Amino acid sequence: MLKVIIRTIVGCFSLIVIQNTIIAQSKKIQIVGVGNYVNPYDYSIKKSETYKKASVSCAHPLAAMVGAAIMKQGGNAFDAAIATQLTLAVVYPGAGNIGGGGFLVAHTKEGKSIALDYRETAPKKASKDMYLDANGNPNTALSQSGHLACGVPGTVAGLFATHKYAKFPFKFLIQPAIDLAEFGFVISEKEAGGLNATRASFIKNSTQPSAYVNSTPWKAGDTLVNKDLAETLKRIRDFGEKGFYAGKTAQLIVDEMKYGNGLISLDDLANYEVKTRTPIAFEYKNYSIIGMPPPSSGGILLAQMMKMIENRNIAQYGFQSLKAVQLMVEVERRAYADRAAHIGDPDFWKVPVKTLLDNTYLNNRMKDYDSTKASPSVTIKAGSIRESNETTHISILDKDGNMVSITTTLNGSYGSRTVIGGAGFIMNNEMDDFSVKPNTPNMYGAIGGAANAIQPNKRMLSSMTPTLVLKNKKPYIVVGTPGGTTIPTSVFQTLVNLLEFKMTPEDAVNQPKFHHQWLPDEIKIEPTFPENTMKVLETMGYKFAILSQIGRIELIKINKEGARETVADKRGDDSVSGF
Ligand code: DON
Repeated sequence: MLKVIIRTIVGCFSLIVIQNTIIAQSKKIQIVGVGNYVNPYDYSIKKSETYKKASVSCAHPLAAMVGAAIMKQGGNAFDAAIATQLTLAVVYPGAGNIGGGGFLVAHTKEGKSIALDYRETAPKKASKDMYLDANGNPNTALSQSGHLACGVPGTVAGLFATHKYAKFPFKFLIQPAIDLAEFGFVISEKEAGGLNATRASFIKNSTQPSAYVNSTPWKAGDTLVNKDLAETLKRIRDFGEKGFYAGKTAQLIVDEMKYGNGLISLDDLANYEVKTRTPIAFEYKNYSIIGMPPPSSGGILLAQMMKMIENRNIAQYGFQSLKAVQLMVEVERRAYADRAAHIGDPDFWKVPVKTLLDNTYLNNRMKDYDSTKASPSVTIKAGSIRESNETTHISILDKDGNMVSITTTLNGSYGSRTVIGGAGFIMNNEMDDFSVKPNTPNMYGAIGGAANAIQPNKRMLSSMTPTLVLKNKKPYIVVGTPGGTTIPTSVFQTLVNLLEFKMTPEDAVNQPKFHHQWLPDEIKIEPTFPENTMKVLETMGYKFAILSQIGRIELIKINKEGARETVADKRGDDSVSGF
Protein backbone atom coordinates (compact mmCIF):
# COMPACT_ATOMS: atom_id res chain seq x y z
CA MET A 1 0.00 0.00 0.00
CA LEU A 2 2.68 2.46 1.01
CA LYS A 3 4.65 1.74 -2.11
CA VAL A 4 1.62 2.53 -4.21
CA ILE A 5 1.20 5.85 -2.49
CA ILE A 6 4.78 6.84 -3.15
CA ARG A 7 4.58 5.90 -6.76
CA THR A 8 1.30 7.66 -7.32
CA ILE A 9 2.47 10.86 -5.75
CA VAL A 10 5.76 10.89 -7.53
CA GLY A 11 4.06 10.01 -10.76
CA CYS A 12 1.33 12.59 -10.83
CA PHE A 13 3.27 15.56 -9.52
CA SER A 14 5.78 15.84 -12.28
CA LEU A 15 9.16 16.22 -10.70
CA ILE A 16 11.06 19.37 -11.17
CA VAL A 17 14.10 19.19 -13.34
CA ILE A 18 16.48 22.03 -12.93
CA GLN A 19 19.61 22.79 -14.82
CA ASN A 20 22.21 22.91 -12.10
CA THR A 21 24.57 25.46 -13.47
CA ILE A 22 26.63 25.81 -10.34
CA ILE A 23 27.65 22.34 -9.26
CA ALA A 24 27.99 20.72 -12.64
CA GLN A 25 26.99 22.36 -15.87
CA SER A 26 25.23 19.41 -17.38
CA LYS A 27 23.76 17.81 -14.29
CA LYS A 28 20.01 17.73 -13.87
CA ILE A 29 18.49 17.31 -10.47
CA GLN A 30 15.11 16.12 -9.33
CA ILE A 31 13.57 16.94 -6.03
CA VAL A 32 11.21 14.11 -5.35
CA GLY A 33 7.92 14.79 -3.70
CA VAL A 34 7.44 18.51 -3.91
CA GLY A 35 5.84 18.97 -7.30
CA ASN A 36 7.08 22.04 -9.10
CA TYR A 37 7.16 24.19 -6.01
CA VAL A 38 10.78 24.23 -5.13
CA ASN A 39 13.72 25.46 -7.13
CA PRO A 40 16.78 25.39 -4.90
CA TYR A 41 18.69 27.70 -7.24
CA ASP A 42 16.07 30.37 -7.60
CA TYR A 43 13.75 31.15 -4.74
CA SER A 44 12.68 34.22 -2.85
CA ILE A 45 11.66 35.20 0.63
CA LYS A 46 8.00 35.99 1.26
CA LYS A 47 7.25 37.75 4.52
CA SER A 48 3.50 37.84 4.70
CA GLU A 49 0.59 36.30 2.80
CA THR A 50 -2.98 35.25 3.45
CA TYR A 51 -3.64 31.72 2.23
CA LYS A 52 -7.08 30.17 1.84
CA LYS A 53 -6.31 26.66 3.04
CA ALA A 54 -2.94 25.80 4.54
CA SER A 55 0.35 27.48 5.32
CA VAL A 56 3.80 27.27 6.85
CA SER A 57 6.00 29.96 8.36
CA CYS A 58 9.60 29.07 9.17
CA ALA A 59 13.21 30.21 9.03
CA HIS A 60 13.95 29.41 5.38
CA PRO A 61 11.92 29.80 2.17
CA LEU A 62 12.91 26.38 0.76
CA ALA A 63 11.71 24.64 3.92
CA ALA A 64 8.45 26.60 3.95
CA MET A 65 7.88 25.71 0.28
CA VAL A 66 8.58 22.02 0.89
CA GLY A 67 6.10 21.96 3.81
CA ALA A 68 3.38 23.71 1.81
CA ALA A 69 3.95 21.45 -1.23
CA ILE A 70 3.55 18.37 0.93
CA MET A 71 0.19 19.68 2.19
CA LYS A 72 -0.86 20.65 -1.33
CA GLN A 73 -0.41 17.00 -2.28
CA GLY A 74 -2.71 15.82 0.49
CA GLY A 75 -0.37 15.68 3.46
CA ASN A 76 -1.54 17.08 6.76
CA ALA A 77 0.22 19.50 9.12
CA PHE A 78 2.22 16.63 10.67
CA ASP A 79 3.53 15.51 7.27
CA ALA A 80 4.51 19.10 6.60
CA ALA A 81 6.14 19.39 10.02
CA ILE A 82 8.37 16.39 9.33
CA ALA A 83 9.36 17.47 5.82
CA THR A 84 9.92 21.08 6.88
CA GLN A 85 12.13 20.15 9.83
CA LEU A 86 14.21 17.79 7.73
CA THR A 87 14.60 20.42 5.03
CA LEU A 88 15.67 22.99 7.62
CA ALA A 89 18.31 20.51 8.81
CA VAL A 90 19.85 20.89 5.34
CA VAL A 91 19.16 24.46 4.25
CA TYR A 92 19.43 26.20 7.64
CA PRO A 93 22.48 24.68 9.31
CA GLY A 94 22.70 27.37 12.01
CA ALA A 95 19.68 25.94 13.79
CA GLY A 96 17.80 23.45 11.63
CA ASN A 97 19.08 20.13 12.79
CA ILE A 98 19.15 16.42 13.22
CA GLY A 99 21.91 16.85 15.82
CA GLY A 100 19.73 18.82 18.25
CA GLY A 101 16.35 18.55 19.87
CA GLY A 102 13.04 20.29 20.27
CA PHE A 103 9.41 20.38 21.25
CA LEU A 104 6.19 19.97 19.30
CA VAL A 105 2.84 21.28 20.46
CA ALA A 106 -0.12 20.33 18.31
CA HIS A 107 -3.89 20.43 18.30
CA THR A 108 -5.56 17.96 15.97
CA LYS A 109 -8.68 18.47 13.93
CA GLU A 110 -10.37 16.03 16.32
CA GLY A 111 -9.62 18.41 19.21
CA LYS A 112 -6.74 16.52 20.82
CA SER A 113 -3.81 18.50 22.24
CA ILE A 114 -0.35 16.94 21.98
CA ALA A 115 3.05 17.84 23.45
CA LEU A 116 6.09 15.89 22.27
CA ASP A 117 9.38 16.35 24.12
CA TYR A 118 12.41 15.45 22.03
CA ARG A 119 14.81 17.58 24.01
CA GLU A 120 18.42 16.39 24.22
CA THR A 121 19.52 14.47 27.31
CA ALA A 122 22.75 14.58 29.27
CA PRO A 123 24.94 11.57 28.39
CA LYS A 124 25.12 8.81 31.00
CA LYS A 125 28.67 9.81 31.86
CA ALA A 126 27.71 13.45 32.57
CA SER A 127 28.01 14.72 36.12
CA LYS A 128 27.02 17.73 38.16
CA ASP A 129 30.44 19.36 38.27
CA MET A 130 31.71 18.33 34.86
CA TYR A 131 32.33 21.91 33.73
CA LEU A 132 34.09 23.06 36.92
CA ASP A 133 37.88 23.33 37.12
CA ALA A 134 40.02 22.25 40.08
CA ASN A 135 39.13 25.47 41.92
CA GLY A 136 35.42 24.98 41.34
CA ASN A 137 35.22 27.71 38.70
CA PRO A 138 32.94 27.07 35.72
CA ASN A 139 34.58 26.66 32.32
CA THR A 140 31.73 27.67 30.06
CA ALA A 141 33.89 27.30 26.95
CA LEU A 142 33.46 23.56 27.49
CA SER A 143 29.71 23.68 28.02
CA GLN A 144 29.26 25.96 25.01
CA SER A 145 31.46 24.58 22.26
CA GLY A 146 32.99 21.36 21.07
CA HIS A 147 32.35 17.73 21.88
CA LEU A 148 31.76 18.01 25.62
CA ALA A 149 28.96 20.53 25.07
CA CYS A 150 26.80 18.04 23.14
CA GLY A 151 23.67 16.49 24.55
CA VAL A 152 22.24 13.27 23.12
CA PRO A 153 20.21 14.46 20.10
CA GLY A 154 16.43 13.98 20.12
CA THR A 155 15.24 15.41 16.81
CA VAL A 156 15.24 12.23 14.71
CA ALA A 157 13.30 10.31 17.38
CA GLY A 158 10.94 13.29 17.55
CA LEU A 159 10.30 13.13 13.81
CA PHE A 160 9.36 9.47 14.06
CA ALA A 161 7.09 10.16 17.05
CA THR A 162 5.40 12.87 14.97
CA HIS A 163 4.98 10.46 12.08
CA LYS A 164 2.29 8.61 14.05
CA TYR A 165 -0.04 11.50 13.18
CA ALA A 166 1.06 11.89 9.55
CA LYS A 167 -0.42 10.43 6.35
CA PHE A 168 2.51 9.92 3.96
CA PRO A 169 5.34 7.38 4.28
CA PHE A 170 8.42 8.75 6.06
CA LYS A 171 10.53 7.85 3.04
CA PHE A 172 8.54 10.31 0.97
CA LEU A 173 8.78 13.12 3.53
CA ILE A 174 12.54 12.88 3.91
CA GLN A 175 13.34 12.80 0.18
CA PRO A 176 13.31 16.58 -0.45
CA ALA A 177 15.92 17.00 2.29
CA ILE A 178 18.05 14.22 0.81
CA ASP A 179 17.91 15.81 -2.63
CA LEU A 180 18.75 19.26 -1.32
CA ALA A 181 21.75 17.88 0.60
CA GLU A 182 22.92 15.79 -2.32
CA PHE A 183 22.54 18.28 -5.15
CA GLY A 184 22.83 21.49 -3.19
CA PHE A 185 20.97 24.73 -2.82
CA VAL A 186 21.93 28.35 -3.17
CA ILE A 187 22.76 30.14 0.07
CA SER A 188 21.72 33.63 1.13
CA GLU A 189 23.94 36.48 2.21
CA LYS A 190 23.02 35.89 5.86
CA GLU A 191 23.93 32.20 5.60
CA ALA A 192 27.22 33.00 3.86
CA GLY A 193 28.03 35.45 6.67
CA GLY A 194 27.10 32.93 9.36
CA LEU A 195 29.22 30.16 7.85
CA ASN A 196 32.19 32.49 7.36
CA ALA A 197 31.96 33.76 10.95
CA THR A 198 31.87 30.16 12.22
CA ARG A 199 34.65 28.82 9.96
CA ALA A 200 37.40 28.86 12.56
CA SER A 201 35.19 27.20 15.19
CA PHE A 202 34.12 24.46 12.76
CA ILE A 203 37.78 23.70 12.08
CA LYS A 204 38.74 23.80 15.76
CA ASN A 205 35.79 21.77 17.05
CA SER A 206 35.54 19.05 14.38
CA THR A 207 38.07 16.35 13.71
CA GLN A 208 37.36 16.07 9.98
CA PRO A 209 36.69 18.51 7.11
CA SER A 210 33.03 19.18 6.40
CA ALA A 211 30.84 20.79 3.76
CA TYR A 212 30.37 23.88 5.94
CA VAL A 213 34.00 24.92 5.53
CA ASN A 214 34.83 26.23 2.08
CA SER A 215 38.34 26.84 0.78
CA THR A 216 37.37 30.43 -0.06
CA PRO A 217 34.90 32.60 1.87
CA TRP A 218 31.25 31.80 1.20
CA LYS A 219 29.21 34.38 -0.66
CA ALA A 220 25.53 34.80 -1.45
CA GLY A 221 24.62 32.64 -4.46
CA ASP A 222 27.13 29.86 -3.74
CA THR A 223 25.77 26.33 -3.74
CA LEU A 224 26.12 24.29 -0.56
CA VAL A 225 26.33 20.55 -1.27
CA ASN A 226 26.58 18.16 1.69
CA LYS A 227 27.04 14.57 0.48
CA ASP A 228 27.79 13.23 3.98
CA LEU A 229 24.52 14.63 5.27
CA ALA A 230 22.67 13.18 2.25
CA GLU A 231 24.08 9.73 3.13
CA THR A 232 23.04 10.12 6.79
CA LEU A 233 19.52 11.10 5.72
CA LYS A 234 19.40 8.10 3.37
CA ARG A 235 20.28 5.81 6.30
CA ILE A 236 17.38 7.35 8.24
CA ARG A 237 15.14 6.88 5.20
CA ASP A 238 16.18 3.23 4.78
CA PHE A 239 16.51 2.08 8.40
CA GLY A 240 14.16 4.44 10.26
CA GLU A 241 15.21 5.65 13.73
CA LYS A 242 17.92 2.99 13.74
CA GLY A 243 19.50 4.74 10.77
CA PHE A 244 20.49 7.44 13.27
CA TYR A 245 20.55 5.90 16.76
CA ALA A 246 22.29 2.67 15.74
CA GLY A 247 24.50 1.35 12.96
CA LYS A 248 26.84 3.53 10.96
CA THR A 249 25.49 6.95 12.00
CA ALA A 250 25.66 6.09 15.71
CA GLN A 251 29.19 4.78 15.25
CA LEU A 252 30.24 7.98 13.45
CA ILE A 253 28.82 10.06 16.33
CA VAL A 254 30.63 7.99 18.94
CA ASP A 255 33.89 8.04 16.95
CA GLU A 256 33.69 11.84 16.66
CA MET A 257 33.05 12.06 20.41
CA LYS A 258 36.03 9.83 21.17
CA TYR A 259 38.38 11.95 19.06
CA GLY A 260 37.25 15.08 20.90
CA ASN A 261 36.70 13.88 24.50
CA GLY A 262 32.91 13.94 24.16
CA LEU A 263 30.76 11.68 26.34
CA ILE A 264 28.00 10.36 24.09
CA SER A 265 28.09 6.56 23.85
CA LEU A 266 26.32 3.96 21.72
CA ASP A 267 24.16 3.20 24.77
CA ASP A 268 23.14 6.83 25.14
CA LEU A 269 22.00 6.84 21.53
CA ALA A 270 20.25 3.48 21.68
CA ASN A 271 18.39 4.51 24.86
CA TYR A 272 17.17 7.92 23.70
CA GLU A 273 13.40 8.26 24.14
CA VAL A 274 10.82 10.85 23.13
CA LYS A 275 8.49 11.77 26.00
CA THR A 276 4.83 12.49 25.46
CA ARG A 277 3.92 15.23 27.92
CA THR A 278 0.69 16.83 29.04
CA PRO A 279 0.52 20.30 27.47
CA ILE A 280 0.19 23.38 29.65
CA ALA A 281 -3.35 24.53 28.90
CA PHE A 282 -4.90 27.68 30.32
CA GLU A 283 -7.67 30.12 29.59
CA TYR A 284 -7.04 33.78 28.88
CA LYS A 285 -10.31 35.68 28.50
CA ASN A 286 -12.16 33.76 25.77
CA TYR A 287 -9.00 32.18 24.39
CA SER A 288 -7.59 28.77 25.26
CA ILE A 289 -3.82 28.72 25.13
CA ILE A 290 -1.85 25.50 24.74
CA GLY A 291 1.88 25.46 25.49
CA MET A 292 4.90 23.27 26.19
CA PRO A 293 5.36 21.91 29.72
CA PRO A 294 8.72 21.16 31.43
CA PRO A 295 11.48 20.49 30.58
CA SER A 296 10.61 23.71 28.82
CA SER A 297 9.83 26.66 31.02
CA GLY A 298 8.04 28.24 28.05
CA GLY A 299 4.44 27.18 28.70
CA ILE A 300 4.59 27.95 32.41
CA LEU A 301 6.22 31.36 31.91
CA LEU A 302 3.73 32.33 29.23
CA ALA A 303 0.80 31.25 31.40
CA GLN A 304 2.16 33.12 34.43
CA MET A 305 2.76 36.31 32.47
CA MET A 306 -0.61 36.24 30.70
CA LYS A 307 -2.45 35.56 33.95
CA MET A 308 -0.61 38.31 35.80
CA ILE A 309 -1.83 40.92 33.27
CA GLU A 310 -5.26 39.45 32.60
CA ASN A 311 -7.25 41.69 34.93
CA ARG A 312 -5.28 44.89 34.45
CA ASN A 313 -6.80 46.55 31.42
CA ILE A 314 -3.60 46.57 29.44
CA ALA A 315 -5.50 47.26 26.19
CA GLN A 316 -6.45 50.67 27.53
CA TYR A 317 -2.85 51.58 28.30
CA GLY A 318 -1.86 51.12 24.64
CA PHE A 319 1.07 49.54 22.85
CA GLN A 320 4.48 50.64 24.13
CA SER A 321 2.86 53.06 26.57
CA LEU A 322 4.81 53.59 29.73
CA LYS A 323 2.17 51.81 31.81
CA ALA A 324 1.96 48.77 29.54
CA VAL A 325 5.72 48.30 29.25
CA GLN A 326 6.29 48.77 33.00
CA LEU A 327 3.57 46.25 33.88
CA MET A 328 4.86 43.69 31.39
CA VAL A 329 8.44 44.10 32.60
CA GLU A 330 7.41 43.48 36.21
CA VAL A 331 5.38 40.45 35.23
CA GLU A 332 8.32 39.08 33.24
CA ARG A 333 10.70 39.66 36.16
CA ARG A 334 8.52 37.67 38.56
CA ALA A 335 7.95 34.78 36.16
CA TYR A 336 11.67 34.41 35.41
CA ALA A 337 12.53 34.42 39.13
CA ASP A 338 10.31 31.34 39.43
CA ARG A 339 11.98 29.79 36.39
CA ALA A 340 15.38 29.92 38.05
CA ALA A 341 14.26 28.16 41.21
CA HIS A 342 11.40 25.87 40.39
CA ILE A 343 11.62 24.48 36.87
CA GLY A 344 13.71 21.59 35.56
CA ASP A 345 13.25 18.20 33.92
CA PRO A 346 10.07 16.82 35.54
CA ASP A 347 11.50 13.29 35.47
CA PHE A 348 14.22 14.44 37.89
CA TRP A 349 12.70 17.40 39.75
CA LYS A 350 9.24 17.88 41.09
CA VAL A 351 8.06 20.98 39.24
CA PRO A 352 5.18 22.59 41.16
CA VAL A 353 3.20 23.25 37.98
CA LYS A 354 -0.18 23.55 39.67
CA THR A 355 0.98 26.15 42.18
CA LEU A 356 2.96 28.14 39.63
CA LEU A 357 -0.23 28.52 37.58
CA ASP A 358 -2.58 29.07 40.50
CA ASN A 359 -4.44 32.40 40.45
CA THR A 360 -4.02 33.05 44.20
CA TYR A 361 -0.29 32.32 43.96
CA LEU A 362 0.05 34.66 40.98
CA ASN A 363 -1.98 37.42 42.68
CA ASN A 364 0.41 37.13 45.63
CA ARG A 365 3.39 37.40 43.29
CA MET A 366 2.01 40.77 42.16
CA LYS A 367 1.24 42.06 45.68
CA ASP A 368 4.43 44.10 45.83
CA TYR A 369 3.99 45.41 42.27
CA ASP A 370 4.27 49.20 42.23
CA SER A 371 3.27 51.00 39.02
CA THR A 372 5.43 54.02 39.91
CA LYS A 373 8.81 52.34 40.29
CA ALA A 374 10.97 49.32 39.52
CA SER A 375 10.87 46.34 41.90
CA PRO A 376 14.63 45.58 42.10
CA SER A 377 15.35 41.91 41.39
CA VAL A 378 17.28 41.57 44.67
CA THR A 379 13.94 42.02 46.43
CA ILE A 380 11.98 39.73 44.11
CA LYS A 381 12.68 36.13 44.99
CA ALA A 382 11.09 33.08 43.48
CA GLY A 383 7.68 32.46 45.01
CA SER A 384 7.67 30.07 47.93
CA ILE A 385 5.99 26.85 47.06
CA ARG A 386 4.11 24.88 49.62
CA GLU A 387 3.16 22.01 47.36
CA SER A 388 4.95 18.77 48.53
CA ASN A 389 21.73 33.18 18.78
CA GLU A 390 20.21 29.58 17.65
CA THR A 391 16.93 27.96 17.53
CA THR A 392 14.26 27.76 14.92
CA HIS A 393 10.50 27.76 14.96
CA ILE A 394 7.95 26.32 12.54
CA SER A 395 4.24 27.20 12.53
CA ILE A 396 1.91 25.08 10.39
CA LEU A 397 -1.83 25.00 9.90
CA ASP A 398 -3.45 22.65 7.40
CA LYS A 399 -6.76 22.81 5.55
CA ASP A 400 -8.52 20.61 8.14
CA GLY A 401 -7.46 22.72 11.11
CA ASN A 402 -4.59 20.59 12.42
CA MET A 403 -2.26 23.07 14.14
CA VAL A 404 1.43 22.31 14.68
CA SER A 405 3.91 24.52 16.50
CA ILE A 406 7.50 23.30 16.75
CA THR A 407 10.57 24.90 18.20
CA THR A 408 13.80 23.01 17.72
CA THR A 409 17.38 23.96 18.43
CA LEU A 410 21.10 23.35 18.43
CA ASN A 411 21.21 25.97 21.24
CA GLY A 412 23.89 28.42 20.03
CA SER A 413 24.22 29.42 16.40
CA TYR A 414 25.62 26.31 14.60
CA GLY A 415 25.48 24.56 18.01
CA SER A 416 28.74 23.18 19.33
CA ARG A 417 30.31 23.78 15.90
CA THR A 418 31.28 20.13 16.01
CA VAL A 419 30.39 18.43 12.75
CA ILE A 420 30.15 14.64 13.00
CA GLY A 421 32.96 13.42 10.76
CA GLY A 422 31.60 11.57 7.72
CA ALA A 423 27.99 12.24 8.75
CA GLY A 424 27.76 15.89 7.75
CA PHE A 425 25.59 17.26 10.56
CA ILE A 426 26.28 19.71 13.34
CA MET A 427 25.91 18.71 16.99
CA ASN A 428 24.13 20.82 19.58
CA ASN A 429 25.74 22.60 22.53
CA GLU A 430 22.69 22.07 24.68
CA MET A 431 24.60 21.05 27.83
CA ASP A 432 25.03 24.78 28.48
CA ASP A 433 21.30 25.03 29.17
CA PHE A 434 21.92 23.16 32.42
CA SER A 435 22.94 25.19 35.40
CA VAL A 436 26.66 24.32 35.29
CA LYS A 437 27.03 25.81 38.78
CA PRO A 438 24.37 27.46 40.98
CA ASN A 439 23.99 31.13 40.06
CA THR A 440 26.40 30.95 37.11
CA PRO A 441 24.67 32.43 34.06
CA ASN A 442 24.42 30.31 30.92
CA MET A 443 24.97 31.78 27.46
CA TYR A 444 21.59 33.52 27.68
CA GLY A 445 22.31 34.90 31.15
CA ALA A 446 19.84 32.50 32.78
CA ILE A 447 20.76 31.22 36.19
CA GLY A 448 19.48 28.20 38.04
CA GLY A 449 20.18 25.77 40.83
CA ALA A 450 19.33 22.26 41.93
CA ALA A 451 16.22 21.99 39.73
CA ASN A 452 18.40 22.30 36.65
CA ALA A 453 21.68 20.76 37.86
CA ILE A 454 23.39 18.25 35.54
CA GLN A 455 22.50 14.59 36.09
CA PRO A 456 22.98 11.63 33.76
CA ASN A 457 20.11 11.21 31.26
CA LYS A 458 18.40 14.38 32.48
CA ARG A 459 16.94 16.96 30.08
CA MET A 460 18.26 20.51 30.39
CA LEU A 461 15.77 23.30 31.10
CA SER A 462 14.55 25.14 28.03
CA SER A 463 12.77 28.41 27.28
CA MET A 464 11.27 27.24 24.01
CA THR A 465 7.61 28.18 23.76
CA PRO A 466 5.78 26.60 20.83
CA THR A 467 2.23 27.83 21.39
CA LEU A 468 -1.30 27.48 20.05
CA VAL A 469 -4.34 29.62 20.72
CA LEU A 470 -7.94 28.56 20.26
CA LYS A 471 -10.75 31.10 20.16
CA ASN A 472 -14.10 29.78 21.32
CA LYS A 473 -12.42 26.35 21.14
CA LYS A 474 -11.63 26.74 17.41
CA PRO A 475 -8.11 27.02 15.88
CA TYR A 476 -6.95 30.64 15.96
CA ILE A 477 -3.19 31.20 16.29
CA VAL A 478 -0.01 29.16 15.81
CA VAL A 479 3.08 30.96 17.13
CA GLY A 480 6.65 30.55 18.35
CA THR A 481 10.18 31.89 18.01
CA PRO A 482 13.87 31.29 18.67
CA GLY A 483 15.83 33.59 21.01
CA GLY A 484 17.01 31.73 24.13
CA THR A 485 15.53 33.24 27.28
CA THR A 486 13.81 35.95 25.22
CA ILE A 487 11.51 33.30 23.72
CA PRO A 488 8.72 33.33 26.33
CA THR A 489 8.64 37.14 26.46
CA SER A 490 8.58 37.38 22.64
CA VAL A 491 5.60 35.01 22.46
CA PHE A 492 3.97 36.84 25.39
CA GLN A 493 4.34 40.22 23.68
CA THR A 494 3.17 38.91 20.31
CA LEU A 495 0.03 37.53 21.93
CA VAL A 496 -0.60 40.74 23.88
CA ASN A 497 -0.12 42.68 20.63
CA LEU A 498 -2.73 40.51 18.93
CA LEU A 499 -5.24 39.80 21.66
CA GLU A 500 -5.12 43.11 23.54
CA PHE A 501 -3.74 45.78 21.23
CA LYS A 502 -5.58 44.25 18.25
CA MET A 503 -2.62 44.70 15.93
CA THR A 504 -2.36 43.21 12.47
CA PRO A 505 -0.34 39.97 12.46
CA GLU A 506 2.52 41.72 10.63
CA ASP A 507 2.76 44.49 13.21
CA ALA A 508 2.38 42.07 16.10
CA VAL A 509 5.44 40.21 14.83
CA ASN A 510 7.62 43.07 13.62
CA GLN A 511 7.15 45.84 16.18
CA PRO A 512 10.13 46.24 18.56
CA LYS A 513 10.20 44.02 21.62
CA PHE A 514 11.66 44.29 25.12
CA HIS A 515 12.67 41.66 27.63
CA HIS A 516 13.28 41.29 31.36
CA GLN A 517 14.44 37.98 32.83
CA TRP A 518 14.81 38.88 36.54
CA LEU A 519 18.60 38.60 36.41
CA PRO A 520 20.48 40.50 35.15
CA ASP A 521 18.23 43.27 36.44
CA GLU A 522 17.85 45.21 33.20
CA ILE A 523 15.38 45.64 30.38
CA LYS A 524 16.75 44.44 27.09
CA ILE A 525 15.33 46.43 24.18
CA GLU A 526 15.67 46.39 20.44
CA PRO A 527 17.32 49.52 19.00
CA THR A 528 14.00 50.93 17.74
CA PHE A 529 12.31 50.83 21.15
CA PRO A 530 10.81 54.32 21.76
CA GLU A 531 13.30 56.57 23.48
CA ASN A 532 10.78 58.61 25.44
CA THR A 533 9.32 55.52 27.13
CA MET A 534 12.86 54.42 27.97
CA LYS A 535 13.77 57.81 29.47
CA VAL A 536 10.77 57.88 31.82
CA LEU A 537 11.40 54.27 32.86
CA GLU A 538 14.98 55.22 33.73
CA THR A 539 13.69 57.83 36.17
CA MET A 540 11.65 55.04 37.81
CA GLY A 541 14.75 52.94 38.46
CA TYR A 542 15.03 50.75 35.35
CA LYS A 543 18.27 50.00 33.57
CA PHE A 544 18.50 49.20 29.86
CA ALA A 545 20.65 47.14 27.53
CA ILE A 546 20.32 47.02 23.76
CA LEU A 547 19.97 43.71 21.94
CA SER A 548 20.22 43.85 18.15
CA GLN A 549 17.11 41.70 17.84
CA ILE A 550 14.59 40.02 20.10
CA GLY A 551 12.76 37.03 18.67
CA ARG A 552 12.06 35.82 15.15
CA ILE A 553 8.40 35.00 15.30
CA GLU A 554 6.59 32.65 12.91
CA LEU A 555 2.88 33.32 13.10
CA ILE A 556 -0.32 32.00 11.56
CA LYS A 557 -3.64 33.54 12.55
CA ILE A 558 -7.02 32.54 11.18
CA ASN A 559 -9.11 35.52 10.11
CA LYS A 560 -12.90 35.92 10.07
CA GLU A 561 -13.16 34.32 6.64
CA GLY A 562 -11.22 31.30 7.81
CA ALA A 563 -8.12 32.24 5.75
CA ARG A 564 -4.61 31.80 7.17
CA GLU A 565 -2.83 35.12 7.73
CA THR A 566 0.75 33.95 7.72
CA VAL A 567 3.74 36.05 8.75
CA ALA A 568 7.47 35.40 8.93
CA ASP A 569 9.52 37.75 11.10
CA LYS A 570 11.33 40.54 9.26
CA ARG A 571 14.39 39.86 11.44
CA GLY A 572 15.83 36.97 9.34
CA ASP A 573 15.53 35.06 6.05
CA ASP A 574 12.27 33.68 7.46
CA SER A 575 9.59 33.04 4.88
CA VAL A 576 6.02 31.84 4.41
CA SER A 577 4.40 29.52 1.92
CA GLY A 578 0.94 28.07 1.44
CA PHE A 579 -2.06 27.79 -0.82
O1 DON B 1 16.17 25.62 24.88
C1 DON B 1 16.48 26.79 25.01
O2 DON B 1 15.86 27.58 25.69
C2 DON B 1 17.68 27.32 24.25
N1 DON B 1 18.57 26.24 23.94
C3 DON B 1 17.20 28.03 23.02
C4 DON B 1 18.31 28.65 22.23
C5 DON B 1 17.85 29.64 21.26
O3 DON B 1 16.70 29.98 21.18
C6 DON B 1 18.86 30.27 20.40
N2 DON B 1 18.25 31.12 19.42
N3 DON B 1 18.46 32.17 19.07
